[in-house]
Amino acid sequence: MTVLEVIQRSTEFLARKGIESPRLQVEWLLAHVLGLPRLQLYLNFERRLTDAELEALRDLLRRRARHEPLQHLLGTAVFCGLEFTVNRQVLIPRPETEVLADLALQWLKSRPGQPRVLDFGTGSGCLAVTLAREHPAARVRALDVSAEALAVARENAARHGVAERIEWLEGEGWAGVPAGSRFDLIVANPPYIPTGDLAGLPPEVRDFEPRAALDGGPDGLRFYRELAAGRERVEPGGRLMAEFGDGQAEAVVGLFREAGWGEVDVAPDLAGQPRIVIATRGAS
Ligand SMILES: C[S@@+](CC[C@H](N)C(=O)[O-])C[C@H]1O[C@@H](n2cnc3c(N)ncnc32)[C@H](O)[C@@H]1O
Repeated sequence: MTVLEVIQRSTEFLARKGIESPRLQVEWLLAHVLGLPRLQLYLNFERRLTDAELEALRDLLRRRARHEPLQHLLGTAVFCGLEFTVNRQVLIPRPETEVLADLALQWLKSRPGQPRVLDFGTGSGCLAVTLAREHPAARVRALDVSAEALAVARENAARHGVAERIEWLEGEGWAGVPAGSRFDLIVANPPYIPTGDLAGLPPEVRDFEPRAALDGGPDGLRFYRELAAGRERVEPGGRLMAEFGDGQAEAVVGLFREAGWGEVDVAPDLAGQPRIVIATRGAS
């Protein structure tokens, strides 16, 4: 079978299985099997696949049809233009979180010296690694409760040449951050799905992403309470920036205001939805 025939038949297969954007998914998987950039497929429509290539693709298609995420099949996801290893131990980095990375970088660039940064719930390390790479003066620490996630994050730091520049903390929330350490900037994309909503998530998320990366407690706000209570962990004039879920803006802003932070603002994501709380610790 030629590349073009394989694309056509596989697209029909994934469409029958109810997978969204089936043609694009097939192209990514086939390019992965052939070791080509995706767009090169278009210059190779007449190329014939070997039996081994066809078998490898069939295996990936069967897994995709069972809703295994495309990024797990490829083994990578792109975040802020960098490729990150991903697997079932970490959340697949999302485009919304790139907005958080951009806002954090903009703010870091306005800070003199060597700002201290904490990535609270680092997962794949996408935020910590991006900030360390793009702002070499930053001294970055990355916290996660999952040792397996931290192993992936370390691998990603090594892949992008910043392994020596990030300190890894394994622990649960503030208990995992050495007492007395203070930060100029804390970034977080904490779990924010209300526990009762987990069962209704798409199978790609519910069945393949770690529950510890999703479950935000009964009302989804557990981690914003914990973050808001961490005002003392931020230097006066420093900031905390955290992503939140749809419909959570008012409650999240309320939690930071109640906890006595100074200015509390909200920034939108690329779709214009309120997505990031930016809390500044006042001078005291
Ligand atoms: C939504 S994921 C975000 C991962 C990554 N920062 C990103 O944006 O893709 C949240 C992460 O928080 C971690 N986490 C969950 N509970 C935690 C806790 N109590 N203390 C520290 N990390 C926690 C999870 O293991 C997961 O890696």
